[in-house]
Order: sequence, then C-alpha cells, then structure tokens
Amino acid sequence: MTMSSSSLLIKNIHRIWQYDPHASLGWQAGEEMKQINHLENAWILCESDRIQEIGTMDACPEGHHPILDAKGGDILPSWVDSHTHLVFARTREDEFRYRLEGMSYEEIANKGGGILNSAYRLRETSEEELLEGARKRLDEVIRKGTGAIEIKSGYGLTLESEIKMLRVIRRLRDESTIPIRATLLAAHALPKEFKEDRVGYIRLIVDEILPRVADEGLADYIDTFCEKVFFQPEEMAQILEAGARYGLKGKVHTNQFYSIGGIQTAIAQGALSVDHMEVATDQDIEDLLESNVYPVLLPSAPFFLRDHYPPARQMIDAGLGVVLASDYNPGTSPSGNMPLVIALACTQMRMLPEEAIHAATINGACALEWENELGSIAPGKRANLLLTQPIPSLAYLPYAFGSDWIEKRILNGKEFI
Ligand code: NIG
Ligand code: FE
Repeated sequence: MTMSSSSLLIKNIHRIWQYDPHASLGWQAGEEMKQINHLENAWILCESDRIQEIGTMDACPEGHHPILDAKGGDILPSWVDSHTHLVFARTREDEFRYRLEGMSYEEIANKGGGILNSAYRLRETSEEELLEGARKRLDEVIRKGTGAIEIKSGYGLTLESEIKMLRVIRRLRDESTIPIRATLLAAHALPKEFKEDRVGYIRLIVDEILPRVADEGLADYIDTFCEKVFFQPEEMAQILEAGARYGLKGKVHTNQFYSIGGIQTAIAQGALSVDHMEVATDQDIEDLLESNVYPVLLPSAPFFLRDHYPPARQMIDAGLGVVLASDYNPGTSPSGNMPLVIALACTQMRMLPEEAIHAATINGACALEWENELGSIAPGKRANLLLTQPIPSLAYLPYAFGSDWIEKRILNGKEFI
C-alpha cells in the first residue's frame, strides 16, 4: 500500500545496521565479515523508491514528510535471497515421508521422484496456476524480510516447459514489489525422454532452449546441477560456454553431495557463483580463494535432508566470503525463510551473527550483481529495509530463532502492508 506522498521519514531508529554513508560497501570476506557498521539513534529519509538521506535524531529533518515511527526498533537492509526455485507446481511431502522412512534423496531421484517428479507435475500445470502459486510464496518470503530474489527454471526440462517457467518468472518480475533475477536451469536433471541420450539433451539446451530464452530475454544467468548422478563437470562446461555466448554468467549448483570438480570448472568458466558446497575439500577452498567466484551456502537444504552442512567456518577462517540463500524448492528446502537460514548458519555452521547478516545482505547483493543497488543502507540505494521490534543486540536475531521479530517491511521507500 502506498502513502500519499512520495517521501517517507523513518525516525526514532535505535540502530541502523549496514550503515554505508558513502555507498562504498562491497563484497565482505574473511575477518571483515565479523564487523558490521552501524549508526545509533537515527532517521532515514526515503524519496520515491530511494534512500535520500540518513542522520541522527539530534538533527531530525523538519517538514511535512509522512512519518514512520520506528519506536526504538532497528533497521536492516532487506535480505537478498540469491538462490531459489520458487516456481513449482506441487509440494512433495510424500517424498519427505519416504526419506523419514529411510530412503535417500538420490534413491528417490533414481526412482523418478525428486526433480523429475516436479517436472512431470509442472508440464501438466498452466502458466496461470504456476503464477498463482509462485505469487503466494513470493508474498510469504517478502513478509520474512526478503527484498530481492533470484528464481530458477529447471522443473520444465523441455523447451516448452522451461519457457513456461521463465515466463512465469518474468510476469512475477513485472508485477512484483521486489526486484527479481531469473536463471535458466534446464540442466537440472536428465528428463526421462533423454535417459539414454545425455548428449541429445545437452544439444537441446545449447541449440534450442538457450537461443530461444536469450531471444526472448527471459534469463539473466545460467545454471547446471553438477553432481555425480546429474551433470558432469565437462557437461556443465559446455553449457556455461554456450551461456557465455549469449552474455549469461553461470550460477551453478555444485558439491551438494560430492566434490567432482564442479568448483574448478565453474572457476575456469568465469561463473559468478558456486552454490551449495555441502562438500568442499581443502583444495576447493584454496581454489576459490584464488578466484572471484562467490560461494553461496544454503543451510536449509542439509537441515531438511539431515545432511551435513557446508564448512562455512573453515571457509571464512581461510579468508573467503560467503553468501547465504534459502534454496526455496519443493524437494530439499520447502521454505524461503531467511531469518531461519541466518539462525541455521549460526547454530549449525558456527557463523557469527554479523557474518550471517553480511552473507544475507551485501554478499547476497553481490551474488546478483546488485551491490550498487541493494544490501546496505546508503544514500542512493533502493529503500528496501526491514524494521525490527526493539531488540537488545544484533545477536538476538539468530538467537531468537522462530520468533517473529520483523515489525515492518519498507519496500521501494514505502511500507509494505
Ligand atoms: O537446490 N540441488 C538441486 N536442486 C534443488 C533441489 C531440487 C529438487 O529436489 O526439487 C536444490 O537442492
Ligand atoms: Fe537449488
């Protein structure tokens, strides 16, 4: 809902986190992730969809701006969730039950469950129905503080259905309050029709799906699920090379279950990010340290699969920066709850609260090439913010996991109701 004027003065803020007065904050790595800049007893003036000015309450602007009284709550930048699959046809709680009964994720996938199950359902579902479901999930994550998001295709696995998914993402982007990036993930699984013809499916992606997607401008990035039983590093290389010809950078799923060289291939192909990394060897970490590729960690997937978590502590201690994202999808993370992701990062991967907040804000923005637009509280940046209830400290946020400590969301300089 919009207020009558295009400005909004947020006053009586206890602390502004990620305060970035010169709009100079960039990728945070290693030791620097432990510190977050903040300003106490402050106000923020938003003009149109931007942050215009920031100051302290001893010199609060006079004038006739509509006012939002923060009443001693803290302000943070909205989360930037750089990895989701939130367009899907059906939930998969039946598979969840099989896993509780002892089957593994890979066993379920080999029996035609998993991604292929979602693909089968999606082919039967209309664009309108997909849009309606995705819209609800998007609204749900916005309420959890997400202020920018990436969404992948990958449950189509045919030319027609991949295009259908990407069109849904485009329609969401056109109507949504928050900015959205789209990623082509046709190489998510080998569809049934190509069971005996891997080469044929990769040819379909490279020669037909990708040119069509590029022609319609439906994707910003390209992804491949690089994993023992999905796509091999050489296959990912072919797909990333083809994507590069259309100006699409790689954001790839790799090292979820095994380290088979996906990280090295992604680095060699100049990918933007490597996502998952539940299994990262010392060599993988060393190679990443020498690259510009961003590691994106998705702790709600191992939480839900009862798998082990990525070695975030080791990565940060070695000097790497990391990103946190939700991986919202029907199979391995049926939740896009970023406050929960932040709590899991702290409790399960021993990230410090400051590290987790960096990973979910400015580093998430970097992983979508939006660091000039989002991820910190700076004059000129988009005014996508969240207001907390009054809290004792930043550590309270992951500590009070499961509590609803978000009081309000401000999107494009307006309160989101
Ligand atoms: O990120 N790892 C691959 N893709 C998704 C899961 C997809 C599914 O099971 O539907 C993930 O975990
Ligand atoms: Fe994923």
